[in-house]
Amino acid sequence: MRPTTSNEIRQAFLDFFSEVHHEVVPSAPLPQRDNPTLLFTNAGMNQFVDVFLGKEKRPYSRATTAQKGMRVQGKHNELENVGPSARHHTFFEMLGNFSFGDYFKSEAIDYAWTFLTGVMQLEPERLFATVYLDDDEAFELWTRYLPAERILRFGREDNYWVMGDVGPCGPCSEIHYYSGAMDQITAEGVNNEDYPEYLEIWNLVFMQFDGQPDGSVIPLPRPSVDTGLGMERLVRVIQGKDNNYDTDLFSPALDRTQALLGDSDEQRAENLVGYRVIADHGRAATFLIADGVLPGNTGAGYVLRMIIRRAARFGRKIGFHEPFLGEIAEVF
Ligand code: SER
Repeated sequence: MRPTTSNEIRQAFLDFFSEVHHEVVPSAPLPQRDNPTLLFTNAGMNQFVDVFLGKEKRPYSRATTAQKGMRVQGKHNELENVGPSARHHTFFEMLGNFSFGDYFKSEAIDYAWTFLTGVMQLEPERLFATVYLDDDEAFELWTRYLPAERILRFGREDNYWVMGDVGPCGPCSEIHYYSGAMDQITAEGVNNEDYPEYLEIWNLVFMQFDGQPDGSVIPLPRPSVDTGLGMERLVRVIQGKDNNYDTDLFSPALDRTQALLGDSDEQRAENLVGYRVIADHGRAATFLIADGVLPGNTGAGYVLRMIIRRAARFGRKIGFHEPFLGEIAEVF
């Protein structure tokens, strides 16, 4: 049976990669202790940076994780998108598979394709792949699965991944899913904000370089792979929703907000942005506190305080006059 709940989907991912000899590694905590350029884990690969760089040896050369992440500062910051956007979050989960000098582009693409079309049973006709401008190798590899008109080339902005100002980086290949009517499908919709039915779901990074403070790059000891599949987005596709908040990851929090306010469905729809901000920020605050962060004046504590205040402010706008975020935390 096809996995449908978020918990089933997460487990199916880890099981799939475990079966092809990936070590299932626990999520790293949200606050970053090792990397001075990051406050929070912002991608599954963070905990493996030294392994990619060849500075640290592990007893495995393939790993898989369901990683907790936050994108609220630095290179990857989604804070202002939360609420209006149906697909961006501060706290998110990223499902990943990693190769530390083991397999490279060919297997990475094959695993992703097999998981999406086999285990998750997505219709192949709805999938697009993008590759970095001059990555002819990745383009060729994709032609094993997709017609050439559904393999698109994009530049540095979309198809080259960097963690921060320095560190492992490389060209990437993304997988996009189209959820609209089949007679309307067009390559123009990919990476185009005017087409909300096209959703990037998975990023396969072909890690090849170590970015230096002066902007130059040096090759990694061995070509590696870092992938990130957006958990909230995959769940949305599988559950057939047009936004992440209607999935089982968020809807219980929106329902609780509605019950606490005693709102009608019309009121809930009118105040949708506030409902979503409360769900997103309530979830982020809950996971941050669970990982040991407390509100404060600096660093991670400051971000937590800001998120709580932002949720409280939106809450006030939609009718809360008593503390309510503790109730939302309980949902999560
Ligand atoms: N590091 C890449 C990303 O975050 C793939 O995992 O998108």
